[in-house]
Amino acid sequence: RRPAILVTGGAGYIGSHTCKLLSAAGYLPVVFDNLSRGNERSVAWGPLVVGNIRDRTVLQQAIRTYQPKAIIHFAALAYVGESVHEPAEYYSTNVSGTIAVLDAARASSIENIIFSSSCATYGVPETLPIRETSAQNPISPYGRTKLMGEQIIRDYASAYGMKYAILRYFNACGADPEGELGEWHTPETHLIPRVLMAASGMIDEIEIFGADYDTSDGTCVRDYIHVIDLARAHLRALMHLEAGGESLSVNLGTGHGVSIKEILQAVTRMTSKSVPAVFRPRRPGDPAELYADPAGAREHLGFMPELSDIDTIVRTAAPFFGLETAASTIPMPTAKRSRSTAP
Ligand code: UFG
Repeated sequence: RRPAILVTGGAGYIGSHTCKLLSAAGYLPVVFDNLSRGNERSVAWGPLVVGNIRDRTVLQQAIRTYQPKAIIHFAALAYVGESVHEPAEYYSTNVSGTIAVLDAARASSIENIIFSSSCATYGVPETLPIRETSAQNPISPYGRTKLMGEQIIRDYASAYGMKYAILRYFNACGADPEGELGEWHTPETHLIPRVLMAASGMIDEIEIFGADYDTSDGTCVRDYIHVIDLARAHLRALMHLEAGGESLSVNLGTGHGVSIKEILQAVTRMTSKSVPAVFRPRRPGDPAELYADPAGAREHLGFMPELSDIDTIVRTAAPFFGLETAASTIPMPTAKRSRSTAP
């Protein structure tokens, strides 16, 4: 019997890609998701339990049924802007929800927890690259909920004998190179999907929020990491904890910053489509430049990104927007679903 792993939020973007890899590695991913942001069609590698993480009865029932060996806790709300207007929702889902998941783990003696944290916990960094030891001063309710989640997990771990891997994602992007999964957010606010939507004519133009930042070309710089690389890191974190490894908190990024203008150039280069763009004022709460020091994940998990160069990111994501890309040495993704059919 394959060891079960409870994956909260497993119908979401990063969760679903991780489930696919877990399955390929011989695990049974049991998805626990209320489908408020996730997509039922992204659950294909194990059972789906539809429930809210704050519903302790349903959560306990799922754990009794499937006897998972570990929990990967993705389920959360993850829009920075929305968190400013709806902090109650964010504290409830992200903080109370995390407590409920940890209590369920504790009640069932599940020792290993993997937690989705974010570079948003660092706020505006004082120095770059961002190290795990850099100050965590989040500037949004979303970032604060993730920092609180980290703190709660550490306290539970030291009091109740659990072990954790806290993974601080930088900018997740790209899609399953085999075309089975993609980035299907509603609404879609993330840069790369929106640039691809502009290139394919699904929207009139991409709005570039701020051209006057103190960066190489005036636009914001981020550390874009391919969703498959993030999924690979979760698998490594799971195996690390299972092998008796210590609890850890690590950044998941590439160590390289890429500007918005460079993203537009990459999309044009890869798809041969021009990207209609307009400059708009800065978006509130956007730090100018964020990129990780990736040394911690390399040292503790032996993890290094493999698919996170911008061309590969664009190439794997483009088919979901009906865009063909330049020939390459990596296998071309075949889009089995068009993005327009996704909710
Ligand atoms: N941007 C645009 N136009 C758009 C969309 C985005 O110019 O239409 C810009 C943003 O202003 C930002 C950059 O592109 O400068 C990247 O924006 P995203 O919305 O794609 O990503 P963020 O960096 O804002 O958000 C990501 C994660 C969050 C995390 C945050 C931490 O999605 O979960 O990083 O800063 F909290």
